Amino acid sequence: MLVLGIETSCDETSAAIVENGRKVLSNVIYSQIDIHHQFGGVVPEIASRKHVEKISYVVDMAFKQAGLTVDDIEGVAATYGPGLVGSLLVGLSFAKALSFSKKLPFVAVNHIEGHIYANFITYPQLMPPLIVLVVSGGHTNLIVLKDFEEYEVVGKTRDDAAGEAFDKIARYLGLGYPGGPAINKIAKLGDEDKYKYPIADVEGYNFSFSGLKSAVINHVHGLWQKGEEFKVEDVAASFQKTVVNILVEKTINLSLETNIKKIAVAGGVAANTRLRDEFCKKCAEHSIEFFVPDFNYCTDNAAMIASCGYFKLQKGIVSSYRENAVPYISL
Ligand code: KG4
Ligand code: ZN
Repeated sequence: MLVLGIETSCDETSAAIVENGRKVLSNVIYSQIDIHHQFGGVVPEIASRKHVEKISYVVDMAFKQAGLTVDDIEGVAATYGPGLVGSLLVGLSFAKALSFSKKLPFVAVNHIEGHIYANFITYPQLMPPLIVLVVSGGHTNLIVLKDFEEYEVVGKTRDDAAGEAFDKIARYLGLGYPGGPAINKIAKLGDEDKYKYPIADVEGYNFSFSGLKSAVINHVHGLWQKGEEFKVEDVAASFQKTVVNILVEKTINLSLETNIKKIAVAGGVAANTRLRDEFCKKCAEHSIEFFVPDFNYCTDNAAMIASCGYFKLQKGIVSSYRENAVPYISL
């Protein structure tokens, strides 16, 4: 079954065609990062206007690259939330219109759930049950995925998402947007044991990153005020290590407690090489299998939306055209 996926929740206009939820025939991404970079973050109004400008072209390219036409596909999936409402509306309306005109089943996909499915693309044999950590710019969720479409969220962030902490600290340090890749890059040149930052004591499998973010910012502010010399690389590396340790420790604990010895990571922060390495190491120590999407499927893309849409359609889940864009929804 061929499904067209459309993703426009933030600053990427993306369309993809995926076969049976696992095989990507095309995955076209028009990134607006260069435009928003100059503002230090995503400007919602500019983002939605760019989506309007690019959506037809991106969908056309997805068909061309797959060597297919719209008559070949059997379903249309689009992100309906969470995200920027003006941006979401562009992809969602396009998908509904295409589905209506071509009489194809339409399915609305939760963006956070979509991220999980990037793993089923990278690992065609991977099956639930799985422990999944979704870490992106807007979300930090620890999930027990019992089966496709059947999951329990056991942990969330109480405040900032992991990626948000990366972005805010990078912005403060003058490293630009998006902050995650910038911190990841310069942290390689720093001493991660140079500074000890506090780990928030949050109950159960929940997280909190805003205290850590403030601690890093206050620390750097103090160093600047005192005129003390320091290396931004050391700050970046020490901060990154702290975030990575919290994420890895709680995820491993959940795997051990549930005895589900398979961990998958998803979302933009899953592209972080320090996080990937630490998971590899700790999972090996505990005989847990570790899965992480290819880099291009960690950050926002429509292939993961098409994949998730496929598994929904397989279970007979079809959405109504009344399904609207929803900026704030959890899993
Ligand atoms: O999944 P995503 O593309 O969008 C959301 O759904 O939010 O994630 C974007 C987030 C941003 O916060 C970005 O800084 C972060 O993922 N990110 C990274 C890395 N690459 C992207 N964070 C840490 N290290 C990276 N290499
Ligand atoms: Zn995302």
